[in-house]
Amino acid sequence: MSQATLLVISAAGFGRRVSWTADSSDEPPAGHRLTFRSAVMNSVENVIFYVLTPTWFNRLLSFVKVPYLSARAHITQQGFEELKSHMLDLVSSARAEVAEGKISGASDAALLRNLVEANMTQEGDYKRLTDGELLSNIFTFLLAGHETSAHSLSFAFVLLALYPEVQQKIYNEAAGVWSGNTPTADLNSTYKEDFSKLEYTMAFFRETLRLYPSEPRLAKDVHYDTVLPAVNFSAGSKGSPTVEGSSFSVAVPAGSVLIMDIWALHMNPLYWGEDAEDFKPERFIDSDSYRWPRNAFMPFSNGARSCIGQRFALTESVCILANVVRRYEILVPDELVAKSAREQRDALLKWTTGITITPTNARVKFRRRV
Ligand code: HEM
Repeated sequence: MSQATLLVISAAGFGRRVSWTADSSDEPPAGHRLTFRSAVMNSVENVIFYVLTPTWFNRLLSFVKVPYLSARAHITQQGFEELKSHMLDLVSSARAEVAEGKISGASDAALLRNLVEANMTQEGDYKRLTDGELLSNIFTFLLAGHETSAHSLSFAFVLLALYPEVQQKIYNEAAGVWSGNTPTADLNSTYKEDFSKLEYTMAFFRETLRLYPSEPRLAKDVHYDTVLPAVNFSAGSKGSPTVEGSSFSVAVPAGSVLIMDIWALHMNPLYWGEDAEDFKPERFIDSDSYRWPRNAFMPFSNGARSCIGQRFALTESVCILANVVRRYEILVPDELVAKSAREQRDALLKWTTGITITPTNARVKFRRRV
């Protein structure tokens, strides 16, 4: 999934269109010590180490050998240097194309073009990006646009294997949208024509994000004194949650750091009902008498600094899921087939904390549909 989402953001955002097999090559291109993919992966894996260790400390570690730390510092430094050099390659070819007027508005590399154009803007213009800002923006897009999506898709594939009846509905939807095509036929499909028809697949992916939000808690600086409304409630094992007593207020002074617990919101029975812990994509499908609670769903945060890649991520993920399910059956790995549903879930949905929540044992089996 990491490779798939890296190829998508590289192609769609940066016009770097390479094939799956070419990108799997371990041979770095001329002038580089790492392939683009290894450089991105290495940087993503070591970004916390990079941020937490000052440059002078890293330099020191190359002279004074400290077990583990010196090797880690070396790998981290190499990854970031190589990523920078790959990004500079991208920028210099985009600069040449912008100067020659070759990158058009409809180009693959719209994101890169906008960033490079801002970099080439006259000094003093408010839109101008310095070279450093240009590179850190590219890095942010590569990082934000690839790890979150890859991890969410990994959870999604495990859930497809665990819930075959849900998978069947996605298959039926995909087969209906692309009817007349065998599962292996190439599609001539456009976003405009087909995307809105993948309603159940979208509901399935939203339900995946509700249960496994990449960023389960977000911290926000409070800039103004404010008051937040709150309510007491209790949730029993049966029946709807009951609100107890009157609502109350919480004063939040400027200067506080506020932690938004996205996961708690996603599990709150006041909004999602007594079955909030169950996996149920249907809850994301509106009907005449039901509208799913938009404000209780925040995997992309909310407001001015929410995820700007949210629509990109939903589109990319729904397309990948519908296309893969159309071609392959997703199954629980052989060694877990005899286990109970509970044991399968516990084994395959394990995760740990990284920059985003990171699945640690997301393994499934693919069987090609005929
Ligand atoms: C399932 C996939 C994704 C999830 C769950 C996700 C989630 C988030 C969240 C929660 C934030 C807010 C972080 C905060 O407040 O500290 C955020 C910000 C951001 N995301 Fe995403 N994201 C996803 C995919 C993407 C993609 C594909 C891109 C780029 C194409 C992207 C680009 C960004 C950027 C640039 C920001 C910073 C926005 C700002 O600070 O104004 N994200 N994302």
